Amino acid sequence: MNFMAKKRILLGVSGGIAAYKSAELVRRLRTAGAVVRVVMTRSAKEFVTATTLHTLSGEPVWSDWSDDKSGMDHIELARWADRILIAPATADTLARIAHGRADDLLTAICLATEAPLAVAPAMNQAMWNNKATQANVDTLRERGVRVWGPATGEQACGETGPGRMLEPDALVQRLSDSFANGRLAGLKVVITAGPTREPVDPVRYLSNRSSGKMGYAIAQAAHEAGAQVELVSGPVALQAPDGVTLTRVESASDMFRAVMVCLEDCDLFIGAAAVADYRPVEPQARKIKKQAAELLLRLEPAPDILAAVAALKSRPVCIGFAAETENLQEYAQKKRMQKGVEMIVANRVGAGLGFETDDNELWLVWEGGSRWLPKAPKTRLACQLIEQIADLYLKQPSGLKAPEPHAKHSA
Ligand code: C5P
Repeated sequence: MNFMAKKRILLGVSGGIAAYKSAELVRRLRTAGAVVRVVMTRSAKEFVTATTLHTLSGEPVWSDWSDDKSGMDHIELARWADRILIAPATADTLARIAHGRADDLLTAICLATEAPLAVAPAMNQAMWNNKATQANVDTLRERGVRVWGPATGEQACGETGPGRMLEPDALVQRLSDSFANGRLAGLKVVITAGPTREPVDPVRYLSNRSSGKMGYAIAQAAHEAGAQVELVSGPVALQAPDGVTLTRVESASDMFRAVMVCLEDCDLFIGAAAVADYRPVEPQARKIKKQAAELLLRLEPAPDILAAVAALKSRPVCIGFAAETENLQEYAQKKRMQKGVEMIVANRVGAGLGFETDDNELWLVWEGGSRWLPKAPKTRLACQLIEQIADLYLKQPSGLKAPEPHAKHSA
């Protein structure tokens, strides 16, 4: 399975002959859907050029401190990455990381990051077998660094033994697998995403600015957590994440019907869609002609999908969203009670946050608790949200629980 879509991979390249494979690795990572930024050590440039890696990654390439234009690039890159992979990782690079050195940009980033770090060692077999290298590798492993490889075989120096860098395909697979976790294994999750379109006449509709990015990111995160995911989406310009079943709809009533069909055996319902609150009372069968006189459009409430699911006798745990411009915490609490749901995820909209943006910040409220998720890419927030939901859902007896009887677990 491929969990690499939109993942931010910082690829460190250090100076060994296997660096020529880094170019292919960048290409494969991008094909798998990742965003790749490369940081090279100075000696890596002897083996592969920054221009090659820049062209293949489509992103700037960093190497010396002089590339750290803002003086803070190393911190920003450390925060930016979802994963850091150093491939190839030379004996010297492993030693410097094991000793906590920060004498170049790459090692400084490794020291500053909270992202999981993986290394793909590549060196002569005697250098690999040397006790100093083995001690450094043991230190790194103890600190949670993943050591992928080396493979055993023929080496560029003519010797045979352990020290070959794993092939790019194998490294991409390991990175992808590193995003998988089984927190929601065996559970079915239904998610709504995107806006709805409420027809005015055959060519016009009422809608909103929702891009669907948050809901799609949640669907991907739930899939990575091992859940069976059904995504019901209004019209957006996004592709369904791999492994997620997608039903496309237009209006709030379409979405309502599609959700009700998906609910059988559903454990968690997450309403991330920006469903219309109102819709035209009488959509016209023919295009409304322009006229000089004022035109009045009568609106009626659209079906409230979240409230309807929450009101079902036998229902999944329900999680709703609240887009607010102010008083986030107060409104979130109120909305949780009003909708009768187990959790509300409130997000601020406006001023570079919320709709149509890649970043967001979230306030999660549930019975007896709350949590602030500071500004971050929606893909990362989605993973944190799913982790929090899994923590609460799996925590019994005081975790997230739908009122009995629950469709699947009441027996
Ligand atoms: O009522 P309000 O629109 O503020 O509530 C937002 C939450 O309710 C979101 O989770 C949204 O998906 C859901 N909702 C719904 N159907 C509506 C309106 C909102 O499911 N008609």
